[in-house]
Amino acid sequence: MPFTANRDFKAEPKILARAEGVYFWDEKGRKVLDGCSALFTSPAGHCRPEIADAVGAQLLELDYAPSFTRGHPKSFELARRLAALLPASVNRVFFVNSGSEAVDTAMKIALAYHSARRDGQRTMFVSRERAYHGVNFGGVALGGMMKNRQGFGPGLPGVVHMRHTWAPETRFTKGQAEHGAELADDLQRLVATYGGHNIAACFVEPIAGSTGVLVPPQGYLKRLREICDRHGILLAFDEVITGFGRTGRAFAAQSFGVTPDIMTMAKAITNGAQPMGAVAVKQDIHDTIMDAAPKDSVEFFHGYTFSAHPASCAAALAALDIYEKEKLFERAAQMSAYFLDAVFALGDLPVIADIRGYGMLAGIDFVGTSVPGARGHEIQKRLFDAGLHVKTTGDAAILAPAFVAEAQHVDEICTVLREVLSSYR
Ligand SMILES: Cc1ncc(COP(=O)(O)O)c(C=O)c1O
Repeated sequence: MPFTANRDFKAEPKILARAEGVYFWDEKGRKVLDGCSALFTSPAGHCRPEIADAVGAQLLELDYAPSFTRGHPKSFELARRLAALLPASVNRVFFVNSGSEAVDTAMKIALAYHSARRDGQRTMFVSRERAYHGVNFGGVALGGMMKNRQGFGPGLPGVVHMRHTWAPETRFTKGQAEHGAELADDLQRLVATYGGHNIAACFVEPIAGSTGVLVPPQGYLKRLREICDRHGILLAFDEVITGFGRTGRAFAAQSFGVTPDIMTMAKAITNGAQPMGAVAVKQDIHDTIMDAAPKDSVEFFHGYTFSAHPASCAAALAALDIYEKEKLFERAAQMSAYFLDAVFALGDLPVIADIRGYGMLAGIDFVGTSVPGARGHEIQKRLFDAGLHVKTTGDAAILAPAFVAEAQHVDEICTVLREVLSSYR
C-alpha cells in the first residue's frame, strides 16, 4: 500500500467502503467524517452523481482514444475551460495522470523551453526544503522531505534547495506571517553560487502542503518572482494541493497575486473521481517549443498512454461545472474565517505545538516523542476510530474540509480533534 505502514494496517485495517457528501462509511457501516477532502481531492463532496453520470456516458460514447497522434473533443474543451480559470497568461495545457507526472512533465517542459531558445546550459533546478513534489525521480529530486528521498539513491543531479519558510517565531500565525519575505533571497544566493544562467526553473508549492501547511510569508512569492525575472529563471508553482479553490480563489497564484510561468495541478481537477493531472504554461513557453521544431515533426517527445483520458476529461468537465454552478471557490473563501477560527481555538491543547492555516487548509503540529512521526501515526488512527479522517505527515495533521462542508461539520471536526487530542500531553 502506498505511503502506508503496511504491517500495522494489516493488524488494524481501516477500509472505506462507501462515501457520500462529506462522509465515508467503513466496512462495518460506521460513519467517518472526511476532514481532509479525502486526499485534498474532493472539495465538492463524495460520489457526486453529475460526475458519475458524465463518466458513465463518456465510457459508452468513446471509452478511450489513443493519446499519441489522435485527439478527442473533450481534451480540448477541458484545456479551454482550465485556461479560463488560470491566470490569463498561463493558457496552454498538457494532461497527465497524477501530480507526480505533472511535476516531472513540468521539469521537462522547462528544459525543452530553454533548449529551444538555445539556452540549453540551463539544466539546474531550485526547490525548497520540506517541499513535496510527488514520487517520480524529478519530483523526489525537488522534494525536501527526508523520508521521501532516503533509500532511493542520489536521484537527479543539479537540484539545489532554498530554506523552508517555517520559523519558530511565527508559530500560531493565522494566514501569512508578516516577516520572512527575505527567505526568498536564498534564490539570489543560489544564483550567486551556481550562476543564474545555469538555472532552468525554481519550483515551489505556493503553500507547502504535505509537510504540514507552511503558508508563505507576506511578499515572499513576489520576491521569488522578481529574482526569477532578473535571471531568466522560470517560476513554477506546484498547485496540486492549492489548486481548485483551496485558497479561496481558483489557484493560489491568484490568491497571492503572483503569476508563475508554469503551474502543475491534479487531485481536485476531477473532484477525485478519476485520476488526472495537468501542467499549464505561458503561451510563450508553448510557442517557443513549437516554433523550434521542424515543420510536421513532434515538438515535445513526452506523454502518457492515458494523457487526457476521455473519462478523466469528462469527470473534470463535470467537476468544473459543479465548482462554477455552486460557486464553491467563493464558498471556500467565505468559510475560511470560520474554519480557521475553529482550528486555531484548539491551540490551548498541550499536545499542540503550532497551528498554521490559509483558506480551507490548516496544519497542526503535535509535540513529538522520541520516535519522529510515531505520535502523528497514532493520533491519525485514534481520530479515525473516533470517526474522523485526517491526513497526518510526521507529527503533523493536515485539515482540508470539503467546500460543501457546513459550519456544523467544521464544529464536528474540531470536537473530535479536541476529544482525542485532550488525552495527549
Ligand atoms: C504539491 C504536490 N505535488 C505533487 C504531488 C503528487 O501527486 P500524486 O500523488 O497525484 O502523484 C502532491 C501530492 O500530494 C503534492 O501535494
